[in-house]
Amino acid sequence: MKIAIGSDHGGYGLKQQIVAFLDKQGYTFKDYGHYDASSCDYNDVAKVVANDVSEGKVDRGILICGTGIGMSIQANKVKGIRAALVHDCFTAEMTRLHNDSNVLAMGGRVIGIDLALHIVKIWLETPFSDADRHQRRIDKIEK
Ligand code: RB5
Repeated sequence: MKIAIGSDHGGYGLKQQIVAFLDKQGYTFKDYGHYDASSCDYNDVAKVVANDVSEGKVDRGILICGTGIGMSIQANKVKGIRAALVHDCFTAEMTRLHNDSNVLAMGGRVIGIDLALHIVKIWLETPFSDADRHQRRIDKIEK
């Protein structure tokens, strides 16, 4: 599985922690920035990560901004993207099982590092359920 990860300044600190975690766990990933805590627009990073997921260059995207909201709204504008804003373990699991989400958005100013890393692990490891009813609903989103 190839992963694209990106943040704005509001998510920079947490993004760095997740990058270290992915590296330690042996995941294949590319860091799309932001590369420091200077102010930038979340839109630009969300678009490049979402485009690469949409075009199949990577399998999943992880986007971090202050709240995760701007990143998720922007990513969901890209065709084929199902970005889920997640701040707890239950919805991390459910959005993979039911929505087959391909982008995870979180807020670096919202949750702590340990919870965020746990969410990342659950979200990366949980497969889509493949149930017909869930696939039907995803197909309706795509249409
Ligand atoms: C930046 O201050 C902040 O607005 C941004 O990181 C994000 O929270 C937007 O949704």
